[in-house]
Amino acid sequence: MQPPPLRAGLTFADRGMPFSGFPRGWYQAAWSAELAVGAVRPLRYFDTELVIYRSAEGQAHVLDAFCRHYGAHLGYGGTVEGSSIRCPYHGWLWDREGRNVEVPYGDGRCAKRTIRTWPVVEASGIIFLWYAPDGSAPDWDPPSLPAQDAPGYFALYPGGTHQERVCFPGQYVVENMADVVHVKFVHRFEEIPELLHCAPEGHRFKAVFQGRAPARAGYVQMLLTQEAYGVGLIRTETADALETVGLTAMTPVDQGSMLMCFSRWAKCKDPTLEGQQPTGKALRYIQNNIGEALRPDGDRPIWENMRYPSNPGPIYTRDEARSLRLVRKWTEQFYHATQSRDEQPDEQTSVPSEHQQ
Ligand code: FES
Ligand SMILES: [Fe+2]
Repeated sequence: MQPPPLRAGLTFADRGMPFSGFPRGWYQAAWSAELAVGAVRPLRYFDTELVIYRSAEGQAHVLDAFCRHYGAHLGYGGTVEGSSIRCPYHGWLWDREGRNVEVPYGDGRCAKRTIRTWPVVEASGIIFLWYAPDGSAPDWDPPSLPAQDAPGYFALYPGGTHQERVCFPGQYVVENMADVVHVKFVHRFEEIPELLHCAPEGHRFKAVFQGRAPARAGYVQMLLTQEAYGVGLIRTETADALETVGLTAMTPVDQGSMLMCFSRWAKCKDPTLEGQQPTGKALRYIQNNIGEALRPDGDRPIWENMRYPSNPGPIYTRDEARSLRLVRKWTEQFYHATQSRDEQPDEQTSVPSEHQQ
């Protein structure tokens, strides 16, 4: 049978996104293990060509990709020298601040032009990248996650990771955090889970729910805590069959796709297995859970094919107004030029009571 059509080629605006542009905040650029000392790699995020490299001192740096001399892409053939990167075309050397430090012929140096640099933070085995359309500096931190060699955990990379490029926006995934009704219909919980907490706090939004998740035989009680940091990162904690800390990272590639990266740190009871690749029950759990949203029978086909109602906006039941609308309102702060086409505040009161859950 033919697979269902992937709705690639649509922009997020075509999908009825109520906001324009990419949201401000921290994003995952790469896993640390993907970038060895001296490595250079091309990246493309936020409709922008970038280069990432790791200096001889071990620091990760991200710059706009194109050499300011003749426009070569530094991600293809650039080489690391100390904390600088040398262009493959004519050998001009650019430092981590994007300044030219050497022209290996002629006058020796060009002070006229610089390459734009991007704020980077590396922690817990992840390289985070800051995006702000107005160039403003970071004013909050990425989430705190288990340290790279944290005692009591299996190793993160590669066994606890998964990535895929998808054609829907991170906004869908963040709003999904507060959507307990879909957990019954999409994730096959016994009943609609109980939403224990759903509230914004500055750049963070926290949602906690508990319910009975499907298991091999019957159902198991599950408590899920999710915390969004802007629209690019969701930290999760599960406490059921296995205690885990997870990160769902959503980095826009262009106006119609993003890279989803999943990281799962699993607690390890056997000290001899600490820092090793996950095995046994932990491995099975991670394989079952990581990237669950992207399974063909999960949220994926819905997100790939849905359209936000834009004008008029969505209709919320009374409970949804306290969760779904709340999380959407909270995300507005991250969009530079907000063009919210959300519904009028009183519209939800017109939903007939028999349609309210
Ligand atoms: S294009 Fe980079 S040195 Fe000429
Ligand atoms: Fe979901």
